Order: sequence, then structure tokens, then C-alpha cells
Amino acid sequence: MSHNNFYITTPIYYPSGEPHMGHAYSSILADVFARFKRNDNFKVYFLTGTDEHGLKIQKAAEKNNYAPLDYCNKISKIFKDLANKINLSNDDFIRTTESRHHKSVIDIWNRLVKSGDIYLSKYKGWYSVSDEAYYNADEIIEKDGKKFSAFSGSSVEWVEEDSFFFKLSSWEKKLLEFYDINKKFILPVSRRNEVINFVKSGLKDLSVSRTSFTWGIKVPGNNKHIIYVWLDALTNYLSALNYPNINDELYKNFWPASLHVIGKDILRFHAIYWPAFLLAAKIDPPVRIFSHGWILSGDKKMSKSKGNILNPIEVIDTYGIDELRYYLMKEVPHGSDGSISLKSLENCINSDLANNYGNLCQRIFSFIKNNCSNVVSKTKNISTSDKKLIEQTEKITKDLRNIMDEQNLNNYIKSVINISFLTNKYINDEEPWKLKKTNIEKMNNILHISLEQIAKIYILINTIITNKTTKVLDALNLNKKSRNFSFLDGKKIFDDKIQISELDILFKKIS
Ligand code: MSP
Repeated sequence: MSHNNFYITTPIYYPSGEPHMGHAYSSILADVFARFKRNDNFKVYFLTGTDEHGLKIQKAAEKNNYAPLDYCNKISKIFKDLANKINLSNDDFIRTTESRHHKSVIDIWNRLVKSGDIYLSKYKGWYSVSDEAYYNADEIIEKDGKKFSAFSGSSVEWVEEDSFFFKLSSWEKKLLEFYDINKKFILPVSRRNEVINFVKSGLKDLSVSRTSFTWGIKVPGNNKHIIYVWLDALTNYLSALNYPNINDELYKNFWPASLHVIGKDILRFHAIYWPAFLLAAKIDPPVRIFSHGWILSGDKKMSKSKGNILNPIEVIDTYGIDELRYYLMKEVPHGSDGSISLKSLENCINSDLANNYGNLCQRIFSFIKNNCSNVVSKTKNISTSDKKLIEQTEKITKDLRNIMDEQNLNNYIKSVINISFLTNKYINDEEPWKLKKTNIEKMNNILHISLEQIAKIYILINTIITNKTTKVLDALNLNKKSRNFSFLDGKKIFDDKIQISELDILFKKIS
């Protein structure tokens, strides 16, 4: 894969119920990284989709009186519609019931058999259908006579059945070496440490087939066994690139994946099982697993089973998608959990969107409309305060690539807020309105520099706020080709006079 290509994925969602804010968060986060790389002239492939096999889906379909595939067709479409509603810029939407995926899973299975990593035995232990995960006895807690996973809190059942196993135990040392060589394979560092400690405490072989239900991909040459849904699901990242056709342009251009964005609950699968399967199958593991925290409601994970869901569609219909995207990205701290509420969403809309970004634009646009007939000529002489603002902005922007290469979106947002703050302060200090009669050239310079700053701010933030930033960049008559990050390398956005167009109020304050 070339250095200028970037393959990024969201987790593929279980179509077992309606999508909620946690799902929207995970997807929007990945979307922001995808858009950042596109703005930075990378060739990006961004994947999302649905994870449709396994007992969890079979049970959900039965409960709703559907055949599994009919149920998946129905719910997968709801996730696809959500992707549109939240402005995901995904290039593909994969469903694990598609034949392209089936081929890919069979190939991986055969490779693992060929490498001697799979053997037949019997599984005896705990299983959580909700997590589709096996748990050791020391990971189980008992409450009111019922057993739960101490890790996720989901209920578990005792399973005893014939099963194929993957020799995960034999990959323990190689995984630790892999983490050691690839220091940033798992971010944030706290999650990396968690994974390394877990692997160091000893890995057991992993059951990779089930025989007590039918909804899934059959083990090749064995009708009784269904391939474990996580081995099936993780392979989606390869199937979307037309693996096993390794000569396919997509595979050649985009594997290994640059970034899998996932929630902390599915870290083990991505950071332990996935690289172990791939190393065993002699395929390069992905470059980075970034694990985000949970969206909480109060102090609990937002989830269907807890009944504390904020419906993303309702929030978008009331407040707007730009508003929700910005709020979620700002409010949830880097790699940690974040509690959300409508009250704090409203505060964020008023303080950041209306007062900060929105006000900066509106005051400059209306001044130029009323005093300069919508045209600002090119800056001629740079004053000390102009220079100061330009240098302060450069100092902030020069770190942005590194910040985003570590998925630190909170610092990115802080940087943009800071540029907006500095620009507002510059305008207040320079008082262009006082220069109309005395120094029209200086007034023009100030306005030209302010518009250049506004363009930078809105290009940076259009990774998050996708609609209203376009309105501003259109009103600046900035051509589409120039809406990229070349200014991060010190290039100017406007080399000439700037003609502006009408700009409506961007963000309405909520009272
Ligand atoms: N199907 C698996 C993923 C397979 S990837 C090969 C799965 N699906 S899921 O629908 O349960 O969750 C998808 C993603 O949503 C996960 O990354 C999970 O962490 C995230 N979220 C689900 N609830 C969440 C919150 N309340 N908050 C933030 N993200 C959470 O796991």
C-alpha cells in the first residue's frame, strides 16, 4: 500500500435492534478521520456495514418472527439509512451475508487449517450471546443466582459442544513481540497496556466454531460446524477489498488497513484475535486499532438493553446533524467515556457554534457587505499584529497532522477553537470599523486576513461540521479544489481579492 492511501473502518454493527447514539458516535468518529485524510490529499477508502451472522442475530430474528436473512435485510437498511443521515462519507457498506464476504471467510479458514492453527476438540465453558464472546471462569460473577460476565455485565450461559479451536496460545509470544515492534498498534496507550497485560497473563486456545445453531458460515467440508461469528465478522475488513483476490486494485491499494476505529468493548477481538488470525494466515495485520470509550447516559453505557437510549434520528431532526456531530466529537474525551445530555448539547450549540464560529463569520461578512460592497482587495502590507496572528495560527496548525495521526480529536477541536478565538480577538483589537474613513488600505488588510483565517477554520472544521462549513466556503467563493489542507504547509488560501456572497445565519442560538 502506498503511503498516500488510507483505509479506515468502523466496526460492522449487529443488526439486532435499532441503532443508537453509541453507534452514531463510533461511525462519526471514523468519518472525521476519513475526511481529514481526504482533505489532506490522501486516497481514502472508508468502510462500514453490518455483522449479520451468529446466535445473537438468529435469536433477535426469532423473537421478531422473521427468518434471519429477512430480519437482517430490514435492520441492515436502517443502519444504512443512519449512515446517510449522519453524513458518513463511506465508500462501501458491507454486509456479512454477501457472497463476496463468504468467499473471503472460507479462504481465511482454509489458510488457518493449512498453517496447522486449527484443531477439533470440545468446548466447555461460558458464552455470552449478547457479546458473542467466550469467558473464563475467573471472568464470571454471580448476581441473584444468575451468571454474568464481569467484563461486560452481559448474561452468560454454559456451553458444552464439539468445536474447532484456533491455537491462540501459541501466538502469545509473537503477539507480544508484534506489540513491542509496533508501539502504536493500539491507541490510546492505556488500552495498549490493558491488552499487553491480558496477553501476558496467558492466552488460551479459542473456540472458533459452534454446533448448536445454524445461522452463519459453515466450516468448509463440515456441515455441523458454523464458523465463530467473530472470525467471520473481522474478515469483513478484507472482504471489502475483494480479498482473496490479492491482485485486486482495492486490496493492493488499501491493505493493510490504516485504522480500525472501535469501542473499548471490542478491543480484545481487534487487538488480540485479529492480528493472531492474520499472522497465522500470513497476512499483514492492520497498522492501528484506535479504541474509543462509551457514550454514557448518566453513568451507564447507552445501550438497548439498559433502555437509556437517545435516539440519534430524533436529536438530528430537532437540533441538526452538524450540531450533533460537533457536540459528540467535542464532548467525549479522547479514548474515554463521555456523558451526554440534551442540556449540554444546547450549551455547546450556543457557546461554540453560535457564539464562537458563527459569530466570527457573521460579523465579518456583514461588515464587508455593508462597507465594501462584498469585495476585499488583496493584503498589501503586513503589520506587526497581522504577522502575530499569522504566526500564532501557523504554530497551532503545524501540529494538527500529528494530533490526528494519534486520533486525538479533542486536541484538534481545541486547536480550531483557539484559532477562532485568536481571530475574534484580532478583529476586536484592530477595530477595522474605525478605519473606514482614515485608512482604507489597512482596513482591507485586516478584512482580507480575517477572511483567510475564516477559510482555514472552516476547512479544518468541515471534517466535523459538514453542511454549514460548505455554506461558508461557498459564500467565500472558494473553489472546491482549494478546500484542502495545503495551508498546513504554509500556502495561502487566497492570493487575490476576495469576493463574498450572501451568508445566512449559520447557527441559531437556543434559548
Ligand atoms: N458486530 C460487532 C463489531 C464487529 S467488527 C468486526 C459489534 N457490534 S455493535 O453493534 O454491538 O457495536 C458496534 C460499535 O458500536 C462498537 O465499537 C461499540 O463499541 C460501539 N458502541 C455500542 N454502544 C456504544 C456506546 N454506548 N458508546 C460508544 N460506542 C458504543 O460490536
